[in-house]
Amino acid sequence: MILSGNIPSHVGVIMDGNGRWAQLRGLPRVEGHRAGAERAKEIIEFSAEVGIKCLTLYTFSTENWQRPPSEVSMLMRLLEVYLRKELSVLVDRDIVFKVIGETWRLPENIRALVHATEEKTASNKGMTLVTALSYSGRSEILRALKRAATSGCDLEGLTEEAFSQYLDTADLPSPDLIIRTSGERRLSNFLLWQSAYAELYFTDTLWPDFDRSEMLLAIQDFQGRERRFGAISVRSNAS
Ligand code: IPE
Ligand code: IPE
Ligand code: MG
Repeated sequence: MILSGNIPSHVGVIMDGNGRWAQLRGLPRVEGHRAGAERAKEIIEFSAEVGIKCLTLYTFSTENWQRPPSEVSMLMRLLEVYLRKELSVLVDRDIVFKVIGETWRLPENIRALVHATEEKTASNKGMTLVTALSYSGRSEILRALKRAATSGCDLEGLTEEAFSQYLDTADLPSPDLIIRTSGERRLSNFLLWQSAYAELYFTDTLWPDFDRSEMLLAIQDFQGRERRFGAISVRSNAS
């Protein structure tokens, strides 16, 4: 795969549409999640290949706890199987695995597994793969605020940069590109603080159909954007 030009350093993906994908095929929703997990593997591999430094996958939101218990436990089970099976692949590919979100709400076995995976990949040097698990942006911001307040730091003098170190994403770059599949055009509580200047890319493709060529289209679309960060265009005549 040849991809030249400006590669986004950090890409966030809202992997949506698994349920509809299954429904369209007359299958139970869990089959959509299974197909979605396979696609996630492909996109992780592709992202590492093209030189993305950090990939954040929105895997389970705090709001997703409201789903029927059978679907939640199926998702947890899938995650467990994935992590057990893929750990050696992550290590082989030199990937650093990180989890963000309210991890204490996860079942004990999953919590232990994600933390063990973080430890086992901590000294890797390749792409960072962040899994947003039991995650919501508002909860993350509120937790960060509480941490800052209880750490005894000078709240009056707190800068944006210093505050961001209290977030789950401390030390990670802000996302350059956020992709959402399945035609929904919203953030659904994903990386609210960090997405301030992210480029947003929406596609109608359902997540289980989002393959390498779809990811390539998203990156190429990003490459055509002009990021101004509130300043004026470098292409415009500044006089
Ligand atoms: C995304 O697919 C996966 C999770 C939110 C866990 P959905 O399960 O939301 O699929 P749709 O939106 O119902 O099609
Ligand atoms: C967002 O998808 C969360 C994940 C992809 C993990 P949802 O399907 O939960 O979002 P809404 O309910 O359509 O906003
Ligand atoms: Mg959805």
